[in-house]
Amino acid sequence: MTQAWLKNAIKKINADFNRSADTHLIKANILGIDEIDIYFKDEAAHPTGSLKHRLARSLFLYALCNGWINEKSTIIEASSGSTAVSEAYFARMLGLKFIAVMPKNTSKEKIAKIEFYGGKCHLVENATHVSNEAEKLSKNRNCHFMDQFTYAERATDWRGNNNIAESIFQQMGQERFPIPSWVVIGAGTGGTSATIGRYIRYQGYETKVCVVDPDNSVFYDYYNGKASDETILKQGSCIEGIGRPRVEKSFIKNIIDHMIHVPDSASLAAMHFLANELSYARGPSTGTNFYGVYEIVQKMKMKGEKGSIVMLFCDSSSRYLKTYYDKEWMKENNFELEPYYSDLKKFFS
Ligand SMILES: Cc1ncc(COP(=O)(O)O)c(C=O)c1O
Repeated sequence: MTQAWLKNAIKKINADFNRSADTHLIKANILGIDEIDIYFKDEAAHPTGSLKHRLARSLFLYALCNGWINEKSTIIEASSGSTAVSEAYFARMLGLKFIAVMPKNTSKEKIAKIEFYGGKCHLVENATHVSNEAEKLSKNRNCHFMDQFTYAERATDWRGNNNIAESIFQQMGQERFPIPSWVVIGAGTGGTSATIGRYIRYQGYETKVCVVDPDNSVFYDYYNGKASDETILKQGSCIEGIGRPRVEKSFIKNIIDHMIHVPDSASLAAMHFLANELSYARGPSTGTNFYGVYEIVQKMKMKGEKGSIVMLFCDSSSRYLKTYYDKEWMKENNFELEPYYSDLKKFFS
């Protein structure tokens, strides 16, 4: 690798960061919960449309500074789609080839985005196969497996450097409950929960981290001692971006204070509730987060607690118009929103 290429590559990524604004922290306007404030960190607002923009930037810088990639590299990644979209963007910026290994049910919109950025998509049967297949492909000459599921937790500077946690706590600074009682997030790699959890400990905040987990994910059972790091589920999660069939290396359970299992119907009901009732049309994993927030608010109310809760908007509805936002598709795939939708409506009205 030429030093000039490396310097220039890092400069390009830093310049992209310098051009970017921070994502908004939106205060929810929800009735009936006077003493509890809910905030949405809008990670869908990144240039590549999801919280994975931050991760892709970190993974590229980590790989560049480790000397793992050069001007001849082809970048390979295992992904459920969002990371691949963001990495395809950075690969194109550096003039590198990019191949995404993803489950065949990955949304058409994400595949189109990856191809738009010049990447190629290599589709496999389901989520259990993506990492092995990516590893196999990376044996080819000049290929580098980015491996988000291993490196996500360590590629990001968890002490600060405008990571997602620092951004949230700075933006909360002037609120009536500036230190949130809870931050609620899902886990795909587990990198985001690790960054937020470590930052909270480092700063000595009282905030607790709640990770919400969908159906067909091993994380919840692993957290509760009912699955091991050897367990591999047959099927992957259908809430794209979160939930994994195996315990990923980046998933650090000791940093998590609480986990909630959210059935897929509840995630989708919450996603539609946010879109219909609050005008925030976001992806299914945002629904999972909101359902987790709903359960936490119920408990806080019962105990008479006051405080704030922050959750993430992870990606936007535009990636799911032909699936989770399509009534016919929802029916064909037997997704039922009740009783969850009505419960949410009753509670938040
Ligand atoms: C679309 C999407 N991707 C990924 C994640 C999880 O991020 P991480 O891979 O850092 O665990 C989330 C979290 O809610 C998500 O909604």
